[in-house]
Amino acid sequence: MAPAIATRELTRRFDALVAVNALNLDVQAGEVFGLLGPNGAGKTTTIKMLITLLPPSSGTASVAGHDILHEPRLVRRSIGYVPQLLSSDGALSARENLMTSARLYHLPGADRSARIEEALEFMGLESSADRLVRTFSGGMIRRLEIAQAMLHRPEVLFLDEPTVGLDPTARKAVWGHIRGLREAEGTTILLTTHYMDEAAELCGRVGFMHLGKLVALGTPAELSAQAGPGKDLDDAFTYFTGSGLDEAGEQGGQFRDVSRTRRTARRLG
Ligand SMILES: Nc1ncnc2c1ncn2[C@@H]1O[C@H](COP(=O)(O)OP(=O)(O)O)[C@@H](O)[C@H]1O
Ligand SMILES: [Mg+2]
Repeated sequence: MAPAIATRELTRRFDALVAVNALNLDVQAGEVFGLLGPNGAGKTTTIKMLITLLPPSSGTASVAGHDILHEPRLVRRSIGYVPQLLSSDGALSARENLMTSARLYHLPGADRSARIEEALEFMGLESSADRLVRTFSGGMIRRLEIAQAMLHRPEVLFLDEPTVGLDPTARKAVWGHIRGLREAEGTTILLTTHYMDEAAELCGRVGFMHLGKLVALGTPAELSAQAGPGKDLDDAFTYFTGSGLDEAGEQGGQFRDVSRTRRTARRLG
């Protein structure tokens, strides 16, 4: 079977900076794949190219069998995307947010309400469907965003830091739903995370990115073992990507991520 995601020398430059450097990666259909690495490693830039929001500087990729350069419309129809920043509208209810997504993804009118009810139930949000999203907890918002991104039953789902800023209970709830989605729909999922326990728990395989390059690829157990006897994925992170500190080269990346998290926390609070 053709891979759900295949990148070939996928590269993105921002002036002198090579944010993603000749990435070659295959993700098989039905996999939950984790792209790991410090802030500034190039994870979000990779996702943005795969979802056709950002053109590559060179190289290419296919998603659900469609080339991102030549078939961007078909790619977009095959994917769901939950961005790193909050994307639900706090001034609308959960149901209204889902209706917006239903229109965005051109769901046929006749299917809309049934799909929305299904998605609400799947994500455990039925009883909160008509509440304004700004009254939701962070975990509920993330579940709603995933519900919005899966409404049209995409083949491939991209989740950029799906649990950043959530408390442990909310994170585990999101994990359960991600796992359920893969089991129920066979959805291929590519996610990024800073939490190694999350990656070890959810992902069949993970890849470490460091300064735009894929530096290690394998199951969490394989990569942990490569870091040494008795090591875990946290140790592997340090082993493959250096100190684990920011590598954006300046404080910008770090500041941006901190301010994002704060903003998220404030909006959620
Ligand atoms: N639009 C942009 N313009 C200039 N530099 C960018 C832009 N987007 C990302 N970068 C830079 O590219 C690098 C990779 O960023 P990103 O893909 O967001 O990393 P990650 O998601 O792994 O934290 C960083 O050094 C970041 O500052
Ligand atoms: Mg990112």
